[in-house]
Amino acid sequence: MPDDIKPANSHSALAGIEDENGAELKIVRDNMPFGNPAKGEVGTFFIAYASTFSTTQKMLQRMFIEDPPGNYDRILDFSKAYTGSLFFAPSLDILKQYSADAG
Ligand code: HEM
Repeated sequence: MPDDIKPANSHSALAGIEDENGAELKIVRDNMPFGNPAKGEVGTFFIAYASTFSTTQKMLQRMFIEDPPGNYDRILDFSKAYTGSLFFAPSLDILKQYSADAG
C-alpha cells in the first residue's frame, strides 16, 4: 500500500522504521503460530533476530506506546501481548575474544 494512503496506525506503518539517513532498519522475523482452537487459545510466538536490540525496541515502542498520543498499532485491537524475553547471542568475534582472554 503506498505510504500516502497507508493508515498511520497500521502494523506496517509502525513496524517499518528508518534511521536518521532514511535507511530501513531491519530485523529477521521468524514467527511461529501456536494454538489449541478447541480451548480458544491461538496466537503467534513473535520471534525476531537483530544485530542490536535498539531496532526491535523502537518497533515495540511505536507499536505499543502510542507515539504520537492515541496512535497505537491496530494489530493490538485483535491480539494481546502476554509475555516476552530478550536473549543475547554473542557474535563469533566476541567468543573468539573471550577465548583469547581466557588463554
Ligand atoms: C501478533 C503479533 C504479530 C503479527 C501477527 C504480525 C504480523 C505481521 C504481518 C502479517 C506482516 C506483513 C508481512 C508481509 O507483508 O509480508 C508484518 C510485518 C512486519 N512486522 Fe509484524 N506481526 C506481529 C508482531 C510484530 C512485532 C512485535 C514486531 C516488532 C518488534 C513486528 C515487526 C514487523 C516488521 C518490521 C514488519 C515489516 C514491515 C514492513 O516492511 O513494512 N511484528 N507483521
